[in-house]
Amino acid sequence: MKKFPNGFMIGAATAAHQVEGNNVNSDFWAMEQVPNSTYKEPSLDAVDHYHRYKEDIQLLVDAGCDTYRFSIEWARIEPTKGHFNEAEIQHYREVLEFCHLKNVTPIVTLHHFSSPKWLISEGGWESETTIEYFGKYAHYVVSELGHLIPYICTINEANMGKQITKIMIKMSASNTKSSDGDVQVGLNMDTMKARMELYYRSLGETFGIDPRNVHTFLAPKTENGERIIMECHQKARSVIKALNPTIKVGITFSLYDHQALPGGEKFVEKEQHEDLLSYLPYLQEDDFLGVQNYSRKIHGPDGEVLKDENARLTKMGYEYYPEALENVLRFVSKHWDKPIIVTENGISTDSDEDRVEFIERALTGVLQCLDEGIHIIGYTHWSLLDNFEWQLGYAQTFGLIAVDRSTQTRYPKESLSFLGNIKKSGLHSFRELV
Ligand code: BGC
Repeated sequence: MKKFPNGFMIGAATAAHQVEGNNVNSDFWAMEQVPNSTYKEPSLDAVDHYHRYKEDIQLLVDAGCDTYRFSIEWARIEPTKGHFNEAEIQHYREVLEFCHLKNVTPIVTLHHFSSPKWLISEGGWESETTIEYFGKYAHYVVSELGHLIPYICTINEANMGKQITKIMIKMSASNTKSSDGDVQVGLNMDTMKARMELYYRSLGETFGIDPRNVHTFLAPKTENGERIIMECHQKARSVIKALNPTIKVGITFSLYDHQALPGGEKFVEKEQHEDLLSYLPYLQEDDFLGVQNYSRKIHGPDGEVLKDENARLTKMGYEYYPEALENVLRFVSKHWDKPIIVTENGISTDSDEDRVEFIERALTGVLQCLDEGIHIIGYTHWSLLDNFEWQLGYAQTFGLIAVDRSTQTRYPKESLSFLGNIKKSGLHSFRELV
């Protein structure tokens, strides 16, 4: 039995739009509802975490976990440009106070994919003005709630736009459909290509702009858009530090474990550069880095190798490969010597036994990395609850807690207590057991 070091945070993560319900002023709400939407279904009430957060956090605590990563919904805080909503900031104040009451460390994300609808009408994630807007939003949140927040992730998966750009290029070049496991997020590849033009036409109408100027976060980015995301991060970081220098500030990245077969090394280097290393110059003053990993990709002399047809797959179509996390942590640690938080890692599956095994193998790897001296300070599993997996809707089940959405009843899974027990008593190394 091996224990995590004292103070090592273990818990679970969610994102506002995926769990709260009724984020009516967000761009996602609009994207889900337009004619020709590429979303399998709309988010609607989600899992009503907005009203049930106490029950959900209590379940996390009862299991033995001590950390909760969640996001604040910008569209609730600033539903129209320049108008900040006090009732909504009060809501998040209460969530944070509840965390403290229960001795849970909150890790707060300021932007987890969804933006206010008005932001997209103003040019969204390709517009210079977004830097200023994001800074003002961060300022409002931190001046109201900063004393309650020890860790802030400014932006979730800052590199996701680049990954989406790459699969779009791949899809149009090969004239074939990309598979759902190609990117670590729920995109509906079946309809993306077929309906893209019609969908964007509807979006143009909804946002009141030319369809070519619709720039949401979970969409392809230009180099300019990439820079804007990084400058938003830097802006928020300086605003936060000026208001409260004790808050630890970081950002999160979606990172595959890129592995090389002989001759594939140059592809691995390229992917690693694009996924993370190219962003590092913007992160030098950060306090921690958020690592998010779900699987691996293998590269041969001609590029990415297709998954073995016998490979064990998750419900998302990713290869079931929990060891990807430790490999990513080792790669990151070669380029980053400040603290690392595993801000997401998990699996969509109907088999909770598979999830328990996934957690056991992934955390065995984290323990191994700690032994090697890698500076990891926490792990938040994705996700606390089965929730709205973006374009793929509710059929994907990443949660440690199942939810019957017709009654919003919670059913904690075995994996939740398994994770909590690791926090309380440690972990049998999976490698010792097999
Ligand atoms: C995102 C989550 C998402 C998860 C599973 C990450 O890309 O941050 O919002 O639900 O992966 O796809």
